[in-house]
Amino acid sequence: MSPDRTDRLAAPAKVNLTLAVAARRADGFHDLDSVLLRLDLADRLEVRMSGAPPSADSAADGLTLTGPQPCPLPGNLVLRAAAVLRQHVGRPLPPLVFHLRKEVPVAAGLGGGSSDAAAALRLAAGVWDVDLDQATLLELAADLGSDVPFFALDAPAARATGRGERLSRLPAPVGRLACLLAVAHEGLSTAGVFEAFDREARPVDGAAQVSQRLAGALARGLPAGQLVESAAELRDANDLWSTVARLRPDIVHVREDLEQRSGRPWLLSGSGPTLFALYASRAEAERALAHVGRSSDGVGGAVRLLVSGSPQGDTS
Ligand code: C5P
Repeated sequence: MSPDRTDRLAAPAKVNLTLAVAARRADGFHDLDSVLLRLDLADRLEVRMSGAPPSADSAADGLTLTGPQPCPLPGNLVLRAAAVLRQHVGRPLPPLVFHLRKEVPVAAGLGGGSSDAAAALRLAAGVWDVDLDQATLLELAADLGSDVPFFALDAPAARATGRGERLSRLPAPVGRLACLLAVAHEGLSTAGVFEAFDREARPVDGAAQVSQRLAGALARGLPAGQLVESAAELRDANDLWSTVARLRPDIVHVREDLEQRSGRPWLLSGSGPTLFALYASRAEAERALAHVGRSSDGVGGAVRLLVSGSPQGDTS
């Protein structure tokens, strides 16, 4: 790669359509069974070589941040991803300069940081000319976080099991689909939600069965309209909801308000606190945003509403 060249990747967000959570394992993680869907909402990551001589020290790599979503620089997963790849290669490599435009809200359950990490791995492998087979890429991704392999897989949707790193690629729902997202001004720590989950009574609901059924339906070519119609079932297939509800009673109030105003079920994404509703087109979601946004005082204070499309499955 010439020092003047800049490589770029979009780092998309995700929502969890389902999330079944089992008891904590000996390694501290929880076994999951989740169906994830990629969104159009995305951070933008760029990379170029700094021009400094090759180094084995990951401190030589740099990162700058811009964009509407404030996010901390220390411990950023972009630099950790570059460090993990450096270690894997095990020889001096040209220092990199990353630039991240942050569009995806942080600590929101939308996977923004994990997606940045997966994009950084792929960009750094390209710049350094490291030939990573998919199994190695997914292994390095799993070292960076449980959601990173989903983004490294670059699939429109997937069923994730294990701690999130065992993936079955799935096609997107067939036809147009959009999400209206309600992003709380104050985020939630994933580790904190899982810790609080351990202190709750075990859920006895069937989120794992819903994940299994939904994965099967998507694999067979689920029309997006049918996914929208199944939202009421998906709403109750996130095992972290009652924990999030206890930690953040404001989110319970927001959900009631959104459901009343939109006449739709609102789902929790991942460990929250982002809520989302499914619509059969971007135009419908935009109309709902105008309606819910206009008529809501309570909601407007606690959350920001935004529309994102999702990748379209084969419509032929
Ligand atoms: O894997 P990641 O670093 O994103 O996870 C953050 C924290 O969330 C973990 O340290 C763990 O406490 C919790 N977690 C979990 N089980 C999972 C995924 C995450 O307990 N499957």
